[in-house]
Parts: sequence; structure tokens; C-alpha cells
Amino acid sequence: MARNLLGIRHLSKSQIEELLAIAKSYKDKVTRGDRIEPMKDLVIGMLFFENSTRTRVSFEQAAHYLGLKTANFAASSSSMSKGETLKDTILTLRYERLDALVMRHRLSGAPSLAARFFGGPVLNAGDGQHEHPTQALADALTIIEKKGSIAACRIAIVGDVEHSRVARSNAWLLSKLGAEVRFVGPRTLMPLHSGLLPGEVFYELASGIQDADVVIALRLQKERMETGLVSSVNEFTKLYQINRDTLKLAAPDCLVLHPGPINRGVELDDATADSDRSMITAQVENGIFVRMAALAWVFGECGEVHEPKGQAAVQPVKHERTKVKSKA
Ligand code: CP
Repeated sequence: MARNLLGIRHLSKSQIEELLAIAKSYKDKVTRGDRIEPMKDLVIGMLFFENSTRTRVSFEQAAHYLGLKTANFAASSSSMSKGETLKDTILTLRYERLDALVMRHRLSGAPSLAARFFGGPVLNAGDGQHEHPTQALADALTIIEKKGSIAACRIAIVGDVEHSRVARSNAWLLSKLGAEVRFVGPRTLMPLHSGLLPGEVFYELASGIQDADVVIALRLQKERMETGLVSSVNEFTKLYQINRDTLKLAAPDCLVLHPGPINRGVELDDATADSDRSMITAQVENGIFVRMAALAWVFGECGEVHEPKGQAAVQPVKHERTKVKSKA
């Protein structure tokens, strides 16, 4: 049985815990040098319509450790540059007999659309401003390793919340696991309907990170400057940068996370990014293990499989490729 991983919002607490437990088990095996039972002979399509370093490479590494093959797809040199639609591209990849898709796209919801037409598991590697589920899983694994648990942690997500899929996936995941979630940033970078997200909004850094156990700094997307949402990078830096001085307000053992890529000297100063409190490289490394877990989980190769509520189960791919049901 196979399924999708399109976001965190529709996962239950037990499904998140299951994914994290699988990731930890893979991490233990890989770091001990144990043999990992290869998965079936499967080919994973890597569809990155947006640039990526961490997510793409860690999915490649995850596939490698699991004995899976990957097929790379470069949008710029594909037939999409000749006008082929996303739907037709996904149908083509389906009939090219790929077994699963890992997909990043600038449009929120693109992986969900792909899942309608592909017929096998689709894993969201970040879509628009919607979700980045495997990043949130990597962040959660990192926090649990250092703090023991996420329950009762006070976690401040700081910066450009409005445009951040990482903020959304983290908010869902951390709140489901019992954390107190805070969103901290200027009004112009806060979602209009922030009440729809699980967390409390703070417009001032000082109150937002007061006694925080974890600070997750978000990348300031430079393109936001062009649309006038931030008056200047200098002003944002002055008001919202996480550095040695501002961290004095947080708990003494506060961890600093950042999904990357970092704008050094903007969201974080150099000293903080490179300090012992910084979990950035641990997040990157854990990205491999949560993506191993995600790949195993969507194929149901890791113990009991529970169907996510509100998320359609998908049928095994190899024998289901003669008909496509579509309302489009
Ligand atoms: N955090 C993250 O998604 O990084 P990449 O864009 O490099 O994949």
C-alpha cells in the first residue's frame, strides 16, 4: 500500500511520531554502519521546478541509502519549456513507469495536483507558501535530539512568516506535538489570517523570543524588498536579527534553527550561525534520515500503515497505469 506526503497539516500526531521514529531508527543504523535492507526495485522521479541544495541532495542521499534509483527532471530542459502543461508532464512521468515523485514547485498545491494524475506516491519537497513537510520533520528530529521532547517547548518562528512554507509546516507539526508556537515578525510579513495557523503572533522580537527554548529564524526572501513589504534589509536586521544580544532574552539554553539558505548578517549574525547553539548543520544531516523515513513511509515499508485522514490513498503503481480518472 502506498500514500502521499503532501503536508503536515493533515497528519495525525501518531503519524508524525511514526515518521520521526522511523527517521531515528534509520539514523542509528546509518551512523552505526549497519546494513539497511534495500527497498524494492523502485525509481523515484526528482522534480525540482525551483532551485534547491539541501532538499534535493538529501532526497538523493536518502534514496541511495535505501537502495532506490532516482530519475532527475530538469524543468528548464524539459518539454514544459515547449508549453507542456503540468498535468501532461505528470501523466508522461506516470507512463514512463516512475514509482514515486519528489516534487518542489513555486505554486502552492502543485504536488496535490500531481498526486491526482500520477497514481503513485507524491512527496512534497516544498510548494509555494504552503508546506515543506520534510523540513519540519528534520527540524523536529533535531529539537527532540537536543531537548528530549517537543511537548511544552516554547518555540518562536521569527521573520517572514507570510511567505514561508517552513513556518507553516513547523507550526502544524510543533503544535500537534504539544509545543507553544509563536510567530514573530513585522506586520507586513505576517499572514493576514494568522488566526488560521496554530500559534500566537508577536510583532516585537523582544516579547516574541522571551524565554524561548527554540528560535527558528526564517530566510528573508530578498524578492519581498521589491514588493515593498520590507522598507530596508537594514531595518529588518535591526529589529528582528537573532544575535548574541537578542538571544539574551531567550532561555539560556535556547537552540537556534534556520532551514537555510541563510542570509548571513540578516536573519542571523555570523557568530550565532556558527555558535554551539546553532543547529543548522544538524538540521541538514537529519534531513537525510527524515527523507529516508518519508520514502519508506509512503510505500508502507516501515511497519503498520494508517491512512492519513482527508488524504486519498493511492494504489500501487505498477499495475494501475492503463486508466486515468480525471475531472479536469
Ligand atoms: N531548506 C531548504 O528547503 O533548502 P533548499 O532550498 O536548499 O532545499
